[in-house]
Amino acid sequence: THEFYLTRHGQSEYNKLGKIGGDAPLTDDGRMYARRLAEFAKKVICRNAHGDAVPARLWTSGLRRTKETAAFIEHPTLEVCLPPPLGKLQWVQMRAREWRHLDEIYAGICDGMTYDEIQQLYPEEFELRHADKLGYRYPRGESYLDVCHRLEPVILEMERCRQPLLIIAHQGILRLIYAYFCGIERAKAPHVSIPLNTVIQLQPCTYSCVETRELLHT
Ligand code: G3H
Repeated sequence: THEFYLTRHGQSEYNKLGKIGGDAPLTDDGRMYARRLAEFAKKVICRNAHGDAVPARLWTSGLRRTKETAAFIEHPTLEVCLPPPLGKLQWVQMRAREWRHLDEIYAGICDGMTYDEIQQLYPEEFELRHADKLGYRYPRGESYLDVCHRLEPVILEMERCRQPLLIIAHQGILRLIYAYFCGIERAKAPHVSIPLNTVIQLQPCTYSCVETRELLHT
């Protein structure tokens, strides 16, 4: 298995308002992050240890904020890179794929609300979720356990992947992927923090992963 690079989308209009879910576009800060991420993809993800260009993969969710975060990454066509020392032209390909499986956990009747609004309108739901964040299913929405199931094909494909892979997704989703590869128990996974503006690099090894984090300042 090759290395994985996990990142949340850049800041969205909903992040700024403290609202969950929805399909909001990026803010100016979010677009700035998208530019930095494209630089990082070109310089780090699409290079091997010798600095040669290598083909890589790019996955996003079906939601606007992840696709906008990928917008400055050159894909999916072949890109000519600067010649390496031997003067040979090399080609880079970042093959893009959009997976609805990577969409954020769906909050059902609470979609588009702030946590304060949820607590005021649905205090019992708020308490239930607090008591069991993994198993709690939003009315007409999903639970983290539901999301674990929909992520199964993604995880299988990741395990088979033989190229560096950048996944641009959402906090709820990346928590589960991160917990799976780093051996964090399932009940703890919904509480893992996945910060904005950060690329988490995971290099799978025998029983866990070597992890490095890159904060891309906006
Ligand atoms: O939809 C919002 C979040 O990224 C997931 O947050 O499961 O901690 O409420 P939460």
